[in-house]
Amino acid sequence: MTPVIQVKNLKKYFPIVKGIIRKKYSYIRAVDGVSFSIEMGETFGLVGESGSGKSTIARLLLRLIEPTEGEILFKGKDITKLSKGELREVRKNMGIVFQDPASSLNPRNTVYDTLLRPLKLHGIPKDEAEERIHKVIESVNLGEELLGRYPHQLSGGQQQRVSIARAIILNPEFVVLDEPTSALDVSVQAQILNLLLDLQREFRLTYLFISHDLSVVRYISDRIGVMYLGNLFEVAPTERLYTHAFHPYTVGLMSSAPILNPRLRSRKKLLLSGEPPSLINPPSGCPLHPRCPFAKSICREKKPELVEVERDHFVACHRAGEIDFSEFLGGESVG
Ligand SMILES: Nc1ncnc2c1ncn2[C@@H]1O[C@H](COP(=O)(O)OP(=O)(O)O)[C@@H](O)[C@H]1O
Ligand code: SF4
Ligand SMILES: [Mg+2]
Repeated sequence: MTPVIQVKNLKKYFPIVKGIIRKKYSYIRAVDGVSFSIEMGETFGLVGESGSGKSTIARLLLRLIEPTEGEILFKGKDITKLSKGELREVRKNMGIVFQDPASSLNPRNTVYDTLLRPLKLHGIPKDEAEERIHKVIESVNLGEELLGRYPHQLSGGQQQRVSIARAIILNPEFVVLDEPTSALDVSVQAQILNLLLDLQREFRLTYLFISHDLSVVRYISDRIGVMYLGNLFEVAPTERLYTHAFHPYTVGLMSSAPILNPRLRSRKKLLLSGEPPSLINPPSGCPLHPRCPFAKSICREKKPELVEVERDHFVACHRAGEIDFSEFLGGESVG
């Protein structure tokens, strides 16, 4: 079957402009040659530190911004080449939920107006629109009495349920969830994740789930892609990634996740030191080499390609499979 999403060598360079004549002199390489695909009905998780390019990918997939290079296929069709009319049809089939519901909901619109807007934009007749609003509000487990309220009269969790309702009200097949639980209290996070899983089953949705939080991505994703400085370093089925990561950065992320037992924490050696370098002048070769304890001379010279090291498991590292990570994992199993 054709994947719902196929991304091929996707790049987004933001120009940095300077001076009165706005001469371009440099670029921020927010996304620097990324390829992956998402199958029908699956949840593909994208994880990486802040600034690694996750939200830029989200915006590119919905064509809210134009790519610098590369292809984005939605059910086999390249959406970077569509006319306005064709794009409208494709957009109907895609939803998005942002991190901060308070700022993504218009404070002057009631819940009802927020939900009506996309239906109106796509010419859904009034009767059907009414019916859909009542159905969707029930699907996200909100009471109809909330329809007349404004965002500030709702809790954070309720606001995010409204954002989710808006994202699915046109019956899309594909939904991008960009850190949908990061702004919420921990107790509410789990409820929202479970709601997303229920909706996925009920409406056969395909998700791109973005988060900087490994435990959240693990909970919800079927497969995970690990990003660093605009590059995908590793892609694997969730449990495989947690038990058999090949990339030093993936292991570094996992081993730096907070461990509650301080005895274990002190036994563990830190894999990644320092901060990510600039996106304006990224390192030559492998983007991780200045921070990677396993770097060899080839790592400074040649950028590693993402290659399949075992079935459905892709790694971009010159030394994939050669490295023993045990001293960094403190004898504890990963995750
Ligand atoms: N419109 C923009 N103009 C210039 N730089 C941008 C723009 N949007 C994002 N960036 C930069 O691109 C990089 C990746 O950002 P983003 O995709 O938001 O990362 P993430 O979502 O992983 O935190 C960051 O350095 C960010 O500052
Ligand atoms: S390619 Fe080299 S520098 Fe990059 S992660 Fe692998 S070992 Fe480290
Ligand atoms: Mg982001």
